[in-house]
Amino acid sequence: MNIPQLVTAAGIVASLLFILAIAGLNRPDTAKRGTAFGVLGMMLAIGATAISMVSANPSPITYWLLGGAVAAGALIGIIRALSVKMTGMPGMVALLNSFGGLASAFVGYNSFLEHSGGTAAHLVEVFLGTLIGTVTFTGSVVAWAKLNEKSWAAQRLLPGRNWINLGLLLLSVLLGVWFVRSESLLALLLASALMAVFGVHLVIAIGGADMPVVVSILNSYSGLAAAFAGFMLASDVLIVTGTLVGSSGLILSYVMCRGMNRSFLAVILGGFGGATGTSVVVGADGEAREINPEGVAKLLTTAGSVIITPGYGMAVAQAQHPVAELTKRLRGLGIKVRFGIHPVAGRMPGHMNVLLAEAHVPYDIVFEMDEINGDFPTTDVVLVIGANDTVNAAAMQPGTPISGMPVLHVWEARNVVVFKRGRGAGYAGVPNPLFSAPNAQMCFGDAAQTIQAINAALAKTVANAA
Ligand code: TAP
Repeated sequence: MNIPQLVTAAGIVASLLFILAIAGLNRPDTAKRGTAFGVLGMMLAIGATAISMVSANPSPITYWLLGGAVAAGALIGIIRALSVKMTGMPGMVALLNSFGGLASAFVGYNSFLEHSGGTAAHLVEVFLGTLIGTVTFTGSVVAWAKLNEKSWAAQRLLPGRNWINLGLLLLSVLLGVWFVRSESLLALLLASALMAVFGVHLVIAIGGADMPVVVSILNSYSGLAAAFAGFMLASDVLIVTGTLVGSSGLILSYVMCRGMNRSFLAVILGGFGGATGTSVVVGADGEAREINPEGVAKLLTTAGSVIITPGYGMAVAQAQHPVAELTKRLRGLGIKVRFGIHPVAGRMPGHMNVLLAEAHVPYDIVFEMDEINGDFPTTDVVLVIGANDTVNAAAMQPGTPISGMPVLHVWEARNVVVFKRGRGAGYAGVPNPLFSAPNAQMCFGDAAQTIQAINAALAKTVANAA
């Protein structure tokens, strides 16, 4: 087998490993195996690419450039991956998407400059790959800034924004025609500049609660840009991987849009007709009743059924371990305990599932929102741990930024205890009427500390009873 054949074979095996990786990531109990397949596939793809580069240009410069780039990238990647907090993961994903987009845009320029006098098909590949890469790059940088609450990236809706988007797209099409006809670098540069503005404008119009969908759409764009880069570089593995990322990202975005009752088209068109409410919420200014951890422990010992609905605050407090311990204690007392997980709880898809799996909460008591939403009226106690938007009844009222978003109907339970540090709003900035509901009580403080205090109080109760 010669080197090109070896590289092709490695590309096919790597592509198969990527497909197995996505299949594995479908379920929490096979996710680790899926990740291992993905790592293996990526190592194979990088190794095969390195071998083909070195065999095509066997000079010391190739070794140094390749070795230096791989070493620097690996070092930065390892340091960032080890230091990033779980709560910073969505921002990191957005940043990684932006690198993917930028790399594809560079591949486009390189391919154009290297192969001048190319066919029309090649020029179209260059144009689309560069432009999608550029939109992904600037859009993802804005998404990263929004997720890190940078004030310059706060939601802004320019008057006539849909016309601005349409104008930018039409101008790019005209520049594309000019580029393919005359191979003008200026046309490519101008179109890239327009798409850079388009990326910023598209994402800056998105409101807080719609961010999860935007991050997954940008992820799929980075896949599409990589697939175009694959065509330009004649790399089968890049085409297959890019297409996999592109299609799975689009499917995830679609599923999330359906889960949040948002129009898929509206979100990909940059908040077209998107929710821009005034945040005036009926019933959100009443008095809240307070309860301390000992009171919660007492309430729990009288319960027959408990549902725990975690949110972003559980991740911030790293309260998953005390929550897992509480679950064990309650189950030990014969209480039926289940978890209700909203599709966008936390800051990334599956955020709560990952935390609960890390703390060894059994999968079979963790339910999705649709599976558990009908059970609240027959539940004795709901523990809302650091969740806010995902349990906000204001979503059922018209005119708020989260109107129409399906939420967990926790207020229908007999008793609700909300664990958070104050009465502040959640990610979407909408006041929550749950806090002053007649059957709700607030247990203020860091969720890890308050749940630990409940565990201690329960241990005391059990010891006294023995
Ligand atoms: P949020 O609405 O973000 O509310 C989290 C709550 O946790 C806050 O109100 C905060 O209240 C509380 N909190 C923070 N630190 C805490 C701590 N140490 N101990 C106890 N409580 C703490 O959470 P959610 O219900 O999970 O909703 C998620 C939101 O993020 C949605 O709007 C969603 O659209 C958006 N989003 C989701 C994703 C994905 S993919 N999941 C990605 C981006 C954005 P205090 O400050 O009063 O403590």
